[in-house]
Amino acid sequence: MKRPSTRRTFLAAMAAGAAAAPSALSAVRARPNPPPFLPKLTARPDESYWELVRAQFAFREERVPMNAANLCPSPRSVAARVEELTRDIDRDCSFNNRAKFRGLTEGSRAAVAAQLGVGPDEIALVRNTSEANNTINNGVPLRAGDEVVIWDQNHPTNNVAWEVRAARFGIVVKRVSVPPRPTTIEALIDPFAAALTDRTRVLSLTHVSNVSGIRLPVRELCEVAHRRGIHVHVDGAQSWGALDVDLRELGCDSYAASAHKWFMGPKEAGLLYVREDRIGGIWPNIVAPGWGSDAEPDVRGARKFESLGQRDDACLAAVGTGAEFHETIGVAEVGGRVGQLATVLKEGMAELGMTLVTPMDPGLSGGVCIMEVPGDRRAALDGLYEQHGIAGAGTGGLRLCPHVYNTMAHVERAVEGIGALRGVILG
Ligand SMILES: Cc1ncc(COP(=O)(O)O)c(C=O)c1O
Repeated sequence: MKRPSTRRTFLAAMAAGAAAAPSALSAVRARPNPPPFLPKLTARPDESYWELVRAQFAFREERVPMNAANLCPSPRSVAARVEELTRDIDRDCSFNNRAKFRGLTEGSRAAVAAQLGVGPDEIALVRNTSEANNTINNGVPLRAGDEVVIWDQNHPTNNVAWEVRAARFGIVVKRVSVPPRPTTIEALIDPFAAALTDRTRVLSLTHVSNVSGIRLPVRELCEVAHRRGIHVHVDGAQSWGALDVDLRELGCDSYAASAHKWFMGPKEAGLLYVREDRIGGIWPNIVAPGWGSDAEPDVRGARKFESLGQRDDACLAAVGTGAEFHETIGVAEVGGRVGQLATVLKEGMAELGMTLVTPMDPGLSGGVCIMEVPGDRRAALDGLYEQHGIAGAGTGGLRLCPHVYNTMAHVERAVEGIGALRGVILG
C-alpha cells in the first residue's frame, strides 16, 4: 500500500475513496441488526472498511486504546474463542475431551509460521517475549570471555538479562548506542558493526524500539554479523502484528514476540522462532515433559522451548484465531494501515511544533510514535486519557501506538488533545 506524503493528502485520498464506492459499512448499517462480522478484504480498503474493523473490538469510544506497544484489545472472535474453549474444558476436562487441543495448538503454530514465512517446526508457542528472550539469554552455549553485543534500547529481558548472565558466568556484554535522530540506515548499522569482534558470539537486537520507535535495519545487521558466524537474536515485540514480517527475509537466527501486543491475540501467549539449524544447539530453560530429551522423539524442532507443564490450551488454540483475523484483512494491509496511522499521527505532532523522538521516515520506524515531553509527562498522559479518551503511555516521552482498531478520527482526536494540552506538555 502506498503511503501518503502528507496528512492532508491522505485524508483527501480517503474522502475521495469513500465517495467513489458504496461503502462496506453502509451495507452493514443498512441491516436491522448488523452482525459483528468482518468480510475478507478483496479490494483496497477505504475508511468504511476500517470502521468495520474497529467494530470487531469491544472498547468504548470514551476509552480508546492507543498503546499497542504494551497491550492490545483482542477482536471479538479471539475473545469468544478463548471463552468457548475454556468453557469446553470446564465442562469436560478428561484426557479424551482435551485430546483435540493438540491439533488446535498445531493449527495455531502452522498459521503463525506461515504468516512469518517459516516452518512450523521452527516456532515455539511460549508465554510472551520476556520468556522467549530469556530462553535465548540462557540457552545459547557461551563460555567465560565470550562477547554478546546488545542495543542499549533493548527491553530489560534482552538487556539486563544478558548482564545477569555475565555476572554469573563471566561472559562480556557490550552495550551499543545509536544516534538519537538517525536519518539513514548506515547510522544504525555502523555502531553495531564497529562493536563486533572475533570474540562476539551473539548480537541481540530489538526490531522496533519501545523507548524511541526506531526500527533497526535487521536484515543488513544480520548480513554483517553472519560474516563472522554470530548468532543474531531479535526482539520482535513491536513488530509481530504491526509490520509484514518475513523472518527468512529478515535473516535472523531467533526472534521473540508476544501475541497480546500488535498481534491482538489472546493474553499471555507469545512465540519464539529459532532457525532450523540453530535449534539443536540451544538449551531449553524449563525442563518438563516435552523438553526434547532422547526419550521424547516426537518432540520436534522448536517445541522443546515451550515445555512448561500444563498450559492454557484455550489460549494456545486462540492464537490461530488471531492469525485468521490478520488473514481476513491481509497481513500486508495491516502493516500498511499501521504505517498510515503512524504517519498521520507523527505529522500531526510535528505540525503542533512538538519534537519527535521517533523518526518520521517509515523506513526507520514502525507503529510506535513517541514525542518529547519537557513538561509534566504524567499530567499530559492523564489529560489525554481523562479529557480526550485516548490511552497512551509515558515510555520515552509521550508514546502513542495506533493500530487497525483505531480510526482516523481517533488519531485526529489524539492530535487535538495534544494541542489542547500544549501548556502541560511543554511546561
Ligand atoms: C521490546 C520489548 N520487548 C519485550 C517486552 C516484554 O513483553 P511481554 O511483557 O509481553 O513479555 C516489551 C514490552 O513492552 C517490549 O516493548
